[in-house]
Amino acid sequence: MARLNYSFKQGTPLGIEADTLAVLVPQSNGEPMIPDIIKESWKDVVNRIIGQGDFKGEEGEIRITYLPKGYALLVLAGVGEKPSLESIRIACAKIVRALEDLRAKDIVVYFDKSTDLDPSDVLAQCIEASDIALYDPGEVFKAKERKEKTLKSLTIVYPEEISGAQEIIRRSTLLADAVNYARLIADTPSSQMNPEEVEEEARKLAETYGLGIKVFHVEDLKRMGMNGILAVGCGGGIPPRLIILEYKGREADEWDIGIVGKTVTFDAGGLDLKSAQSMERMKYDKSGGAVALGIIKAASSLKLPVNIVVALPAVENLPGPKAYKPRDIIKMYNGLTVEVGNTDAEGRIIMADALSYIEKTYRPSKIFDFATLTGAIVIALGNYAAGLFTKDDELAKELYALGQKIGEKLWRMPLWKEYYEQLKSTFADTNNIGGRPAGAITAAAFLSKFLEDPSKWVHLDIAGVAYVENEMPRKPYYRDCATGWGVRLLIYYIMENFRGQ
Ligand code: BES
Ligand code: ZN
Ligand code: ZN
Repeated sequence: MARLNYSFKQGTPLGIEADTLAVLVPQSNGEPMIPDIIKESWKDVVNRIIGQGDFKGEEGEIRITYLPKGYALLVLAGVGEKPSLESIRIACAKIVRALEDLRAKDIVVYFDKSTDLDPSDVLAQCIEASDIALYDPGEVFKAKERKEKTLKSLTIVYPEEISGAQEIIRRSTLLADAVNYARLIADTPSSQMNPEEVEEEARKLAETYGLGIKVFHVEDLKRMGMNGILAVGCGGGIPPRLIILEYKGREADEWDIGIVGKTVTFDAGGLDLKSAQSMERMKYDKSGGAVALGIIKAASSLKLPVNIVVALPAVENLPGPKAYKPRDIIKMYNGLTVEVGNTDAEGRIIMADALSYIEKTYRPSKIFDFATLTGAIVIALGNYAAGLFTKDDELAKELYALGQKIGEKLWRMPLWKEYYEQLKSTFADTNNIGGRPAGAITAAAFLSKFLEDPSKWVHLDIAGVAYVENEMPRKPYYRDCATGWGVRLLIYYIMENFRGQ
């Protein structure tokens, strides 16, 4: 997918060679605050727009007009009474999406000093939102209905110099690339992105960025006692595997961050087969793995000074002849036994083995996991926030604030000991299901049993935020496809906490 050419220019939007001028317009007392320079340069047009009285500068509002001189098109994009970075992201997404249909080529986005936002944050968010909004899986999978893309460049113009603008542009474009890369993996149909193809994808990444890679296949998994991954994965046509990628961004032996991504390339539910309706979107059950790959790609391309290890347990959850069965008892990698209450609660079983392995082998200072783990988190939080589970109060606060700022919201859920009661089993050390009440919490409680020190661990249940389709509520920067939720969150977290020497 061709990406726009982004740049920054200090000054006014006058005299720039481009066909479209887009202006971010805040609101004051219900009226649009169109910058003076725009009012003066296109007096008649602006007066007409204001006179008409329908454009108020509200968040998400957008108006497009043809201009008699200079730029061919003027776009006014409202950012509201108290512009936030979210209103900037929404405005930029709406601008680029409207203009891709209008055959515009070169866009200037102008904003002035009338907001309290840090202009370098505005610059970064404008680029990330535009790039994310333009991602289009149709470009990859459509054969005949492909639209010709005309957009070429986007120049952000601000009256004052923004220090480090070049670096911000470089960073945000590489970050958005990694988000869109993760989205494409999640969006790729299951039959073109099975566990074997995920391995190929990981090998390509390793090759491009010089990452360490290890892949454990069925024989290795048997030898190691990874019976959770084996049990779930053996019902599929393509054998399961555990893929490990290592990125060393600083010279030290310790591992700063471990990331485990749920990579169920298709979740039919196994023998506890899903209904056709709930199965329909289960190609997205590899979103956690896709996000983990996106994070290690971004960290490598940005050369972040941090050591990261990623683990992807990659399986298909299908009801084949070798499929694991309800009431099976699995002896897991860490020695605990699990009674299978439901084969559709497969994610936690493969994640458990991968989490124990990463903790035992690498001893990372922090372990994050990303998983489209439960339908219950979608019932609890809907599609605007991921479920955050951690015992670390400080980290929870930090991630919450970061999510609010960058637009990947999360909401903390409890891990109280009472919930563990629901996982009791007569036959085994634990059941894999805890009944309908608090389904997202009992899933997280199950995972925690597979860590020696759960205080270092953060679980993100992304089932509600990993993709957007049809009737689901959505942000203007996503089409009906995968979102890559989590890549930006973790990369911003790393950039804030690992700054190098
Ligand atoms: N992959 C699903 C969870 C899911 C649901 C992801 C909706 C995205 C959207 C998971 O493996 C699953 O099937 N969970 C079951 C657990 C139940 C059997 C305890 C669920 O949530 O219904
Ligand atoms: Zn399932
Ligand atoms: Zn699943």
